[in-house]
Amino acid sequence: FGKGIFAMTGIIGAMPVEVDRLIEAMENKTPETISRMTFWRGELNGTPCVVACCGAGKVNSAVCAQTMILRYGVSLVINTGVAGGVGSREVRIGDLVVATGVVQHDYDTTPIDGPEGGRRLPLLDEELLPTDAHASAVLAQEAEALSPGRVHRGVIDTGAQYMSHLNPLHPIAARTGALACEMEGGSIGQACALAGVPFTVLRAISDNADGNAVEDFPKFARESAEKSIALLLRALPRL
Ligand code: ADE
Repeated sequence: FGKGIFAMTGIIGAMPVEVDRLIEAMENKTPETISRMTFWRGELNGTPCVVACCGAGKVNSAVCAQTMILRYGVSLVINTGVAGGVGSREVRIGDLVVATGVVQHDYDTTPIDGPEGGRRLPLLDEELLPTDAHASAVLAQEAEALSPGRVHRGVIDTGAQYMSHLNPLHPIAARTGALACEMEGGSIGQACALAGVPFTVLRAISDNADGNAVEDFPKFARESAEKSIALLLRALPRL
């Protein structure tokens, strides 16, 4: 129902570092734990929100999104955090990526459904799930104000693996144009698409999903995660 006095925005991060500062910034907050995940409901910058840390991966993140949809009636879900840059030298550590859509490289029934059919998600019949155009445009605009020249719009790829060498991603990046990889956006998008709830994904690059990704992640994850958070706080009143 778009923005209104009853609108509630759901914000999901996989790791504490991706949401801690948001929860700290929340006003009038109350926690509730469901499926081992703590849902903090309150206001961020005057906007009614529910924020949760879901743990890494597709299953936890989908459970979290579904809980936000059924229990909190969210009208928009935003997945925030860090990601590995993929396949483009233009996407550098510290850059922000606002997804135009999400794909999942590890969903594959091609042996029985063929090269295209085998990539389409069950019930949705699509491989690429588009993000909400309005929310994504606002985030990208605010991102550009915060980090001029360091913002990208494009596909984000999700799979239940931490990628530390790019080889398996090259064909996916070539096919879908993915700019970044992570482990939750696609499954959050899938849960939202099934329910007809708009979603978007906002990530800051913490590594290049390459041979240095294991060392880069601990070095850059916090700083990058906090960039996503700063952007969200700025953008929320406009979403
Ligand atoms: N999140 C941040 N970096 C990542 C990587 N290289 N692979 C998967 N998820 C990530």
